Amino acid sequence: MAALVYRLLCFGLVLAAVAAYTFKNCIEEKNSNRRSFKCNQRREPNISVIMDDLPQHIVNLSILGNPIRYIPDKAFARFKDLHLLRLDNNRLMAIEGSAFGELHQLRSLNLSFNNISELRPSLFASLHNLTFLSLRANRLKRLPGGIFSAMPNLSTLMLQQNLLANFTEMVDSVSNLSDLLQLNLCLNKFTSLHHNRIPFPRSLSKLYLCRNNLSALGCERSFLSDVKILDLSYNSRLAAEAFLGVDLARTNYLNLHSTAVNVMTLLDISNIHAGHVDFTGTGVKNNSMLLALCNLLTRKVKSLNALRLGSNGIRELPNDTLSHCPRIMTSLDLSGNHMKSVKNKMLNCLGFLGENRYFKKLVIEHNHLSNLYSCKQVRRPFWEFEELSFRYNRILMVSDYAFNHTPNVVTLNLNINIIAFLGHKALKGLHRLKTLRLDNNLLTDLYSDTFEDLSALQTLNLRNNRISVIFNWTFLRLRDLTTLDLGGNKIVRIHSAGFRGLGRLSKLYLDGNKLKQIDMSLHAVFWHTLTVLDLEENFIRFSTLNASSPFVNLSRLSDLKLGGQRPYGLTHLPHKLFRGLRNLRSLYLTNNQISYFAADAFDDLTYLRFLTLDKCCDVNIRLPPGVFKNLRNLTKLTVENAGIQNFSGKVFGNLTRLQTLQLTHNGMQSLDVDVLNSLPSLRYLDMRHLPLSCTCLNSRLQNWTVHNDRVQVVYVYNLPCQEGDKSNFYNFETNVCYIDLGKYLFFSTSAAVALLAAFPLLYVKLYWKIKYGYYAFRSWFGEQWRKFREEEENCAYDAFVSYNSNDEDWVMLQLLPNLEGKGSSLKLCLHHRDFEPGRDIVDNIVAAVYSSRKTICVVSRNFLQSEWCSLEIQLASYRLFDEHRDVLLLVFLEPVSERQISSYHRMRKVMLKKTYLQWPASDCVDPEQARELFWSQLRRAVKAGSKLETEENDETRAAPDIDDLGDSDTQTLIADGNFYMD
Ligand SMILES: *[C@@H]1O[C@H](CO)[C@@H](O)[C@H](O)[C@H]1NC(C)=O
Ligand SMILES: *[C@@H]1O[C@H](CO)[C@@H](O)[C@H](O)[C@H]1NC(C)=O
Ligand SMILES: *[C@@H]1O[C@H](CO)[C@@H](O)[C@H](O)[C@H]1NC(C)=O
Repeated sequence: MAALVYRLLCFGLVLAAVAAYTFKNCIEEKNSNRRSFKCNQRREPNISVIMDDLPQHIVNLSILGNPIRYIPDKAFARFKDLHLLRLDNNRLMAIEGSAFGELHQLRSLNLSFNNISELRPSLFASLHNLTFLSLRANRLKRLPGGIFSAMPNLSTLMLQQNLLANFTEMVDSVSNLSDLLQLNLCLNKFTSLHHNRIPFPRSLSKLYLCRNNLSALGCERSFLSDVKILDLSYNSRLAAEAFLGVDLARTNYLNLHSTAVNVMTLLDISNIHAGHVDFTGTGVKNNSMLLALCNLLTRKVKSLNALRLGSNGIRELPNDTLSHCPRIMTSLDLSGNHMKSVKNKMLNCLGFLGENRYFKKLVIEHNHLSNLYSCKQVRRPFWEFEELSFRYNRILMVSDYAFNHTPNVVTLNLNINIIAFLGHKALKGLHRLKTLRLDNNLLTDLYSDTFEDLSALQTLNLRNNRISVIFNWTFLRLRDLTTLDLGGNKIVRIHSAGFRGLGRLSKLYLDGNKLKQIDMSLHAVFWHTLTVLDLEENFIRFSTLNASSPFVNLSRLSDLKLGGQRPYGLTHLPHKLFRGLRNLRSLYLTNNQISYFAADAFDDLTYLRFLTLDKCCDVNIRLPPGVFKNLRNLTKLTVENAGIQNFSGKVFGNLTRLQTLQLTHNGMQSLDVDVLNSLPSLRYLDMRHLPLSCTCLNSRLQNWTVHNDRVQVVYVYNLPCQEGDKSNFYNFETNVCYIDLGKYLFFSTSAAVALLAAFPLLYVKLYWKIKYGYYAFRSWFGEQWRKFREEEENCAYDAFVSYNSNDEDWVMLQLLPNLEGKGSSLKLCLHHRDFEPGRDIVDNIVAAVYSSRKTICVVSRNFLQSEWCSLEIQLASYRLFDEHRDVLLLVFLEPVSERQISSYHRMRKVMLKKTYLQWPASDCVDPEQARELFWSQLRRAVKAGSKLETEENDETRAAPDIDDLGDSDTQTLIADGNFYMD
């Protein structure tokens, strides 16, 4: 009976440990209901180990950045519901043919950035539902026949960055994929598109063949007929003649960048629609070539949707150059050329467009423009232009009236230049401008008339300039502006009417400036519209706890960033600093060396959802009790590296909506389980990098982290003990903690005193009754004991052998013949031979330990490092200490010092309690004889009964080990009948 209870208890513990809501190598994604997991950067080479504690019904799984080289057969057999599997960025070299065997539901499989050089023919045979497959950046040279043929739904196949060279094989492998839309073969070794008669599937519409070594196409006439987007760029040997006889009539886009194709010849000999060729990087560089191209195009088509002439080395575009081109309908791209600004050549006033002036978008990025001159004299404006982009030039100066000729522009990108002079009237007349990018320039001054005409502007980006003062009325007319980005400037002052006029402003970025104080209360204009305010990395500092609240009127503000104030941080977090921010949802206070923290600072933030205090504080900070008391809606709190010494209920308790708590890199040695339990919504707890002590102080926490099924404690199985002896937090020895020694001593002493007092009386009165009772008990106990022994004899095996696979040779060649053979006929249980396939490994181990009379542990250094073996020791020594059944036999294969096993408390106890066997080294005096002796001792030990002998108890009591205090001896005294009898 007792044995049964113990057995159930033990099982319960093991199962609970496995079912706990925390995973060894994976993190469940928030709110995924145990469906989505990430197991990234784990330094674990064995994929089965990484996944072994994941629940069965997962749908999304990412295993990235691990040193995995090999995936065995049926690796994912448990996960039949998987839809998305990412295995990219590992070091995969070999994948067994049935590795993905059961994944009938899989939609997306990513194997990119590995070292796969060969695919097993059956690898994808079960993935009937797959639509996306990436094998990008591997070392594939060949594709086995029919490798993709079992995936009729495949629509995207990524094979770029491999070593594929046989195009016939390539086409054959995809020819029956009737849903294939996109095939990427860039960066392979193809030299031609020559293939056998089998065509591509007709569904294929996007084909990328860039950066191969193509010199010919060499395909059937109709081979590319259905391809809509064809990228042949960077095949430097590919010439126009290759296209002779290839049907491209329905191709919508052809990229020929950096090929040897002469586009004039191409347009002559190919049936491709002239407007569908991208002329970027095709060497059309001087005026005569451009003219010839335009004339040719005009002969072929009436209009072009887009004309792309980038990266052609164009230096100048004289007047009317593009007048000869067909009419452009939407956009012209001249990026990546060498065009300079030359006054009166009209380049900047777009004279080269001539009559071709009815499209919407002009892009002249990455050129050498240095000035945008005045276009005041232009008589016929380009009324249609809506978007102009001059990013990445060398523009230093934008003159007055520079955009006079494009009055209807909506989006103007002047960012990433060196603009230092922006004329007062440079932006004159842009009444319809909505987005203006002036970021990453050298602007120092904004004038009150700079933005005068931009009454429709919604987004103004001035980030990373050198503005130091915002003068009054700078933005006066920007009444529709919603986003103003002034981050990364040198602003020291904002005049009191500096933001006057911004009546719709919603997002204001002032981070990375030199503001010393916050006077938002001055800027009444946007009190009721501002939602985002970024003040990070300024020079704001409070010197007392009694500052007035600068945000008091920002009633709609939802995001406030105050992190990283220079040079010393905020230092004080004043009383009621955030008063009035009743709608604030996110607050950032990172990197601020706060050393005085007003307890009521957050009192008004009842709607706050997210708060980060990472590195907020001085090392000696103590978060004041009650500081979070009003944060009723907080769902995520990060306080990493915040110097917290004490996780107390007064600070952290009662955050009733808190779901995510990140506490890494703090100073507390313990977390109070009652506080954790007072956070009813908590689902995710990160407590890595805390100096957690593995002492009784934390026995409840250990139990909670491992067994609670509500909160995911990130990587709890990797948490080390502060004591630094390589032991782990999750399984340090806690038995000793659950006996309250004081109480025990109190009760036993009082019982002894009472007995002593009563004894003479009882002895006289009840002598015979006691004697009778004693004999009755003894015979009942003997009966129970006999049953117990019988049960034991029913074991299926004599011994379960637990060993590390590195010691397999010794087990197979030495142990097995000596114990099972040679007439000794013991029956051993070996995991690779006797474990039930398909059953969970833990179940198998539990069953093996319990259906064997003994557990032989073959201890070597490898063994000590293997995790399952320590589970086996745990189980067997559990039987030793708690069931009083001596089942554990230690066989040391090599000398292992006591220091090496010091972290295996239980094993050390076994060593102290019992003799163990040492395998004679081959350099001892007479190895043959020593080994004979070894085997006979081992056989005898296996055959011996497993009930504890009394002498051993005596021995232990005589020399108690410090670890043993209160552990098993006390229980032995009570449960072991023999003691009373003597
Ligand atoms: C694809 O998935 C559906 C369920 O989503 C399933 O019914 C079907 O059998 C799968 N297809 C194949 C070919 O296995
Ligand atoms: C390409 O593969 C096909 C089919 O596997 C094969 O017959 C042919 O010889 C290969 N060509 C080259 C050049 O290896
Ligand atoms: C280009 O044309 C404009 C008028 O459209 C004229 O003023 C200018 O002188 C011309 N420039 C050259 C170099 O021909």
